[in-house]
Amino acid sequence: MANYFMNTYHRLPLTFTRGEGVWLYDTNGRAYLDFTSGIGVNCLGHKHPALVGAITRQAEKLLHTCNYYQSDTALEFAEKLVKAAAGMKTVFLCNSGAEANEGACKIARKYSLKKYGPGRHTIVTLKGSFHGRTITTLSATGQERFHRDFGPFTEGFIFVEGGDLAALEKALDQKTVAGLLLEAVQGESGIRSQTGEYIQNAAKLCAERDILLMFDEIQCGLGRTGTFLACEQYGVKADVVTLAKALAGGIPAGAFLAGEKAADVLQPGDHGATFGGNPLACAAGIAVLDIVTNPAFLGEIKRKGEKMKAALELWKHPRIREVRSRGLMLGIDIDTDARQILEAAAMGTVSGLSENPGLLILSSGAGTLRFLPPYIISDAEIDQGLEILKEALGS
Ligand SMILES: Cc1ncc(COP(=O)(O)O)c(C=O)c1O
Repeated sequence: MANYFMNTYHRLPLTFTRGEGVWLYDTNGRAYLDFTSGIGVNCLGHKHPALVGAITRQAEKLLHTCNYYQSDTALEFAEKLVKAAAGMKTVFLCNSGAEANEGACKIARKYSLKKYGPGRHTIVTLKGSFHGRTITTLSATGQERFHRDFGPFTEGFIFVEGGDLAALEKALDQKTVAGLLLEAVQGESGIRSQTGEYIQNAAKLCAERDILLMFDEIQCGLGRTGTFLACEQYGVKADVVTLAKALAGGIPAGAFLAGEKAADVLQPGDHGATFGGNPLACAAGIAVLDIVTNPAFLGEIKRKGEKMKAALELWKHPRIREVRSRGLMLGIDIDTDARQILEAAAMGTVSGLSENPGLLILSSGAGTLRFLPPYIISDAEIDQGLEILKEALGS
């Protein structure tokens, strides 16, 4: 079939036609265990009955209204989301992670402008961070490789080394900073967590200077690390939280939420999104929230992540250098090209594997494999996926 897409992705030659649970099926009917969740999106796996039911029922009632009115579904979703995200008071619904982070930056800048006047608009982010692909969220992304070819960038972003409190304090001490935007667990750069000490001190430094503390929970939030938000685990009070990916389990949705300080910063005319709060996405979001806010379900995410890490470490595989995990986010440093292993696991380029199911995994840079499996994965599916990985790694 002719391919009309722009050549923006390193795609594998796989075309999927359906999915069920943790499994995807290609045009030849071959099965694949999905350890990617579509990069952290399909948190309830594929064809989850609660999600399919919610979307189907909503499609029969109402697909879209503009934001000059409200829908009952969006009202319900907003209430559930704000109540689930500890310390948050208001939410703006949008469609993607980049859009959510753009909104967070706008809140920080307006909050600061109204209180302190012009010139205090800088957003500090961490090196190794990933915040999106728009020009402004690329500007916020602390990785040089994303900055090639697309300048000039949005002014007013500076990067500091995660874990280096002295560097953070120096950056925040400039009189120009409005916000600190960070991921408690950096996903795109290989599942790298900030320490409790770093986050707690960062929160203190921000509070003392009235700088907004903003967590990008687009990849690590919504249960992925075993709590609803990853930042909950540090006992700090966020001013702004951004979400997307898993928010509606596979229907495009994003959100930025604000706590007490910033809840009313944005006023009519300040921000908008045609599809934001779309009833179909909100119905899907309600179905996701009803499941991922359950403490027992969250506990299982943690247990299954620990099981995966322990199993990988037990292998003492000569090619595995380090395994990092937070709930069902795993980063596995290997001594070889991650892309090659990813292809072998999916395609079965190791002899004899292609008749059997494939395994879909992600990479983070050249030497790290990344797992973001659906939360509903079973112990048996974990074991099966890891066996495929072992075969792909060879010895
Ligand atoms: C932490 C984080 N922030 C922002 C984004 C951007 O999200 P989106 O692709 O929905 O714009 C991503 C996507 O990978 C992400 O992982």
